[in-house]
Amino acid sequence: MDNNQPIGIFDSGIGGTSIWKEIHHLLPNENTIYLADSKNAPYGQKTKDEIIALSMKNTDLLLKMNCKLIVVACNTATTNAIKELREKYDIPFIGIEPAIKPAATNSKTRTIGILATQGTLISELFNKTAQQFKNTKIINQVGHGLVPLIESGKMNSPEMTELLRSYLTPMIDANIDYLVLGCSHYPYLIPQIKKILPNNIQIIDSGEAVAKQTQNLLKEKVGFTTEKNSKPIFYTNSDPKVLREILENKYDVIEKEF
Ligand code: DGL
Repeated sequence: MDNNQPIGIFDSGIGGTSIWKEIHHLLPNENTIYLADSKNAPYGQKTKDEIIALSMKNTDLLLKMNCKLIVVACNTATTNAIKELREKYDIPFIGIEPAIKPAATNSKTRTIGILATQGTLISELFNKTAQQFKNTKIINQVGHGLVPLIESGKMNSPEMTELLRSYLTPMIDANIDYLVLGCSHYPYLIPQIKKILPNNIQIIDSGEAVAKQTQNLLKEKVGFTTEKNSKPIFYTNSDPKVLREILENKYDVIEKEF
């Protein structure tokens, strides 16, 4: 089964590029279209209805661009809107959720930490999943302020270090051995997080798993491209500077109203 249509990916901003990188690494021939809805970031503080409306707006645009499947590269949008997206649209969706299962299953201290947005942590989907691991203590922490700092290019700022320290110290004190990054922006903070966490705490995110799921879906239902020279395209509805930098100036970033 061949299918040369592009894969559509969206996030509230630049963070979902951490997922895009995993997909592009695993499936380098696939054409991809990425929407950075930075104008509306952060989604994490919005209501469920607002997140659903924004997710539908992004989906409508990706469908107009002829995408064959959509990766919701945002934990907040997935945990609040994927059900509604699947009900409304006749196209396959892949979502991203905090990787509670591998952390809870492998934890020796039976204590894990989850750093995610408020929208994710209060969602029904997240709480249903968390309830399945009753014998693990799960410490939830909202990453207040982290996404706006990343979106404004202040990833390595003293403010960022300060915030991360205040969120992670109580988890270290509670003896976690796994830290789950439950927001697609946060993998960009791993170098800084590693400086704060002791070596025995593992950091996990869901990027690689989402890429593998995308590969499986293409194989089983949607079809791989036959093209050999893929051309990733990135759209942003805000200042393109930080998005360009995060992509190491290697790809076209187009400014567009959406
Ligand atoms: N990157 C998003 C996530 O994975 C949302 C960040 C935000 O806009 O609050 O949750």
